Amino acid sequence: MSDTTSPAAKLDTNVAHPARRYNYWLGGKDNFAADRLSGDQVAAVFPTVKRAAQENRRFLRRAVGFLAGEAGIRQFLDVGTGLPTADNTHEVAQRIAPESRVVYVDNDPLVMAHARALLTSSPEGKSAYIERDLRDPQSILDAPELHATLDLGRPVGLTLVAILHFVRDFEDPYGAVGRLVAALPSGSFVVLSHGTYDGLPAETVAKLEEANAATGGLSRPRSRDEFARFFTGLDLVDPGVLPIGDWRPEPGSTPPDPIDICMYGAVARIP
Ligand SMILES: C[S@@+](CC[C@H](N)C(=O)[O-])C[C@H]1O[C@@H](n2cnc3c(N)ncnc32)[C@H](O)[C@@H]1O
Repeated sequence: MSDTTSPAAKLDTNVAHPARRYNYWLGGKDNFAADRLSGDQVAAVFPTVKRAAQENRRFLRRAVGFLAGEAGIRQFLDVGTGLPTADNTHEVAQRIAPESRVVYVDNDPLVMAHARALLTSSPEGKSAYIERDLRDPQSILDAPELHATLDLGRPVGLTLVAILHFVRDFEDPYGAVGRLVAALPSGSFVVLSHGTYDGLPAETVAKLEEANAATGGLSRPRSRDEFARFFTGLDLVDPGVLPIGDWRPEPGSTPPDPIDICMYGAVARIP
């Protein structure tokens, strides 16, 4: 199993990394041979993975649009930022409310370097970038840059989009989400999306697990029930837990077949 916590492992371009492999699926250029190899291994078994990555970005756009629009959120904590691409969280939010403030968090130093260079805020808003690990939520909450940018006495939109399936069971993903949620005031919101094997034939799952083992067990897809458990004690926003394409699709668009995407998404309000 690869050690994703030591600095040497974090900078190792010979090992596939979530952000760089995802960047490859999205058609970006910030990836290395190991990321492309792993990306191709998954695509050989699950040929719609690139579409799934694009659909996930669309879900992020719609969910952040909902937070900044209907929900009136002006502060965002985006954990698992990913390499900059189209419609990053601060861009979606600041298009609706230019004064929006965003703190980006990722544990990949390459992501943080690109984010600092490219994810620049509107003059009215503010953005900050912190290299921290979701598996150590207290280190995120203790970061001085977080408190210099966001007022945790006012509602925050916490986005954990396509990151929790990289936190394995023994790393306590439910505890990490619970710790972050507990630090946010009533009226805050949580946006999650997550990979799943639900609905896939057993043969495909076995092949995906083989590809996953080749990357040291990088991902831990979860069932609908396991995903829904992240929202325990929170008020799910309509339409609840759904395949991401079915979560408030853009008017006039046709949502993809969930089996081609294999991701759940939902938004909830912290009571
Ligand atoms: C698939 S990308 C998703 C990017 C973006 N949220 C989106 O949905 O388009 C997952 C991101 O989570 C980051 N990540 C994975 N595990 C992490 C952890 N334990 N702590 C912080 N970031 C992590 C990766 O470096 C990567 O940038």
